[in-house]
Amino acid sequence: MFTGSRKATQFTESVIREMTRLNELYGGVNLSQGFPDFPAPAVVKEAACAAIAADVNQYAVTWGARSLREAIAREFTLRYGVPVVADQQVTVCCGSTEAMMSAMLAIIDPGDEVIIFEPFYENYGPDAILSGATPSYVTLREPDWTFDPDELAAAFNQKTKAIIINTPNNPTGKVFTRQELETIAALCRKWDVVAISDEIYEHIIFDGHRHIPIATIDGMADRTITINGLSKTYSVTGWRVGWTISPPALTGAIRKVHDFLTVGAPAPLQEAGAAALTLPDQYYGDLAAQYQRRRDALLDILERHHFVCYKPYGAYYIMTDVSAFGFDDDVEFARYLVKDVGVAAVPGSSFYKDSASGRTKLRFCFCKRDETLREADKRLERLSAVGAAR
Ligand SMILES: Cc1ncc(COP(=O)(O)O)c(C=O)c1O
Repeated sequence: MFTGSRKATQFTESVIREMTRLNELYGGVNLSQGFPDFPAPAVVKEAACAAIAADVNQYAVTWGARSLREAIAREFTLRYGVPVVADQQVTVCCGSTEAMMSAMLAIIDPGDEVIIFEPFYENYGPDAILSGATPSYVTLREPDWTFDPDELAAAFNQKTKAIIINTPNNPTGKVFTRQELETIAALCRKWDVVAISDEIYEHIIFDGHRHIPIATIDGMADRTITINGLSKTYSVTGWRVGWTISPPALTGAIRKVHDFLTVGAPAPLQEAGAAALTLPDQYYGDLAAQYQRRRDALLDILERHHFVCYKPYGAYYIMTDVSAFGFDDDVEFARYLVKDVGVAAVPGSSFYKDSASGRTKLRFCFCKRDETLREADKRLERLSAVGAAR
């Protein structure tokens, strides 16, 4: 009888995508998996159609179409003042998911340690296992989701190869401050560690908070792999276009891994990405303002239905505490919520190494149309009715 490899048996299937499947089964409102249910910008879609019509339909250069790589380098340099050379530093991948995997496979040797903040985006655990890394977890604690600097310092040692940072953060909505990034940067410099910085929610940021890429902190551009993509900024999660910006010394390794994993990202969608990256600043301002409005709407809904909410300052999720509902288990509560109430959310345990740490938590996303959020509000009334009866 065949079984999966030792690596493949060390992690479970994605709980987030499982919740989406359960939601389809029960016809619920899907506030679990983070994808928008509203249209992508027309100009971006038109650019994709035009590229297909113009027969940009064969493999692009494996590390990415020149137009997109140059747009990525130009945007990062203009926005953050860190020079990026497209030919030496940018690699386009199939989503930031593949970008993260390629980066990890490119720099990790068996036995290397990788520091991961928890709660974490669930892919980072399997990414570490598949790349042969030994993950070491440092907890971000509510309500501010900050870390204890001594705990972080204690996680670094001779074997530490990389630290994964995600700001703005999924699932907490935390935006790392300059001071926190400087603490991380000082430890990276001291222990000669690479920062892998997932900045996919760069433009989804609220209440005057500002996104600071760790590559802009002193001495970090040469030891940071920045990960980003089109998915969230342009509402095209199904396109699968992402990228790495890496120090030139690491780019060759990332490109080799990427080439043999996927050859390349979809060629016409890379051309559309190049067009998307020329959108004016107003686009990003409007995007953030619209998401802030949606955040406020979902906060209001969840609080009215007795969820304790941790207000997010970036990304498009709200972490909640659900201990008051009297369920022992977050997974049981999430299943109940999708099956009997008709709203899908993600159990908190899927964001922690030790599931007990997430037992009282549930994550909801607000990348949804107003009517979707209103429908969730209506359905959650059933929860209040049941809650009153319990
Ligand atoms: C923090 C984070 N990184 C990466 C991804 C995946 O992005 P992509 O669609 O570019 O693979 C997500 C998606 O939810 C995410 O939340």
